[in-house]
Amino acid sequence: MNGAIFFSSRYGSTEQYANWIGEATGLPVFHVDDANADPTKYDFLILGSALIFFRLIIRKWVKANLTDLKGRSKILFSVSGAGPGPKLDRWVAASLPESLLSKMDHVALRGRMDPKKLPWGLRQIMRIGALINPDSQASKEERGGFDYVDKSTIEPILKLVEQFQSSEMSS
Ligand SMILES: Cc1cc2nc3c(=O)[nH]c(=O)nc-3n(C[C@H](O)[C@H](O)[C@H](O)COP(=O)(O)O)c2cc1C
Repeated sequence: MNGAIFFSSRYGSTEQYANWIGEATGLPVFHVDDANADPTKYDFLILGSALIFFRLIIRKWVKANLTDLKGRSKILFSVSGAGPGPKLDRWVAASLPESLLSKMDHVALRGRMDPKKLPWGLRQIMRIGALINPDSQASKEERGGFDYVDKSTIEPILKLVEQFQSSEMSS
């Protein structure tokens, strides 16, 4: 069984996680915009995506490649400010077709955001978002930034890859 990791990242944390998973599993890692990124060459796929403004940014690529992704996509990791929970589940469900999502294990990883590195316009949007966000912790993070990137949190993904590979070998 040969597998691969396909990711979409805007500010680098999803790419960092994808590379860590690639190093730990030996699977090749592709940015979805990479010209060599061909999901049909692989038996199983790990999809990784940043979550920006309540949606996974990989969704357009998924829609465009849905036929090739069906039957191959086994694990989804999302990277967001929000931690795992119903809110994140709703955003993920609104991003990807149920037919694909229902066949994947979802692992929610947490990313980073440094407002100082954002362009002025986006910084203002985050500031306004923080003012109207009823969740006080999320509001604080939108204003001041956060960094939850943690290599050890890929562990559940490594376990899933191991389980998946051993069950495929025995079948
Ligand atoms: C403009 C912007 C919008 C964001 N929107 C959300 C959001 O709706 N929900 C959330 O949980 N995190 C949100 N985040 C946090 C990102 O998910 C986090 O920064 C993540 O690490 C980005 O992944 P990347 O570094 O791979 O691009 C947002 C961050 C930015 C900069």
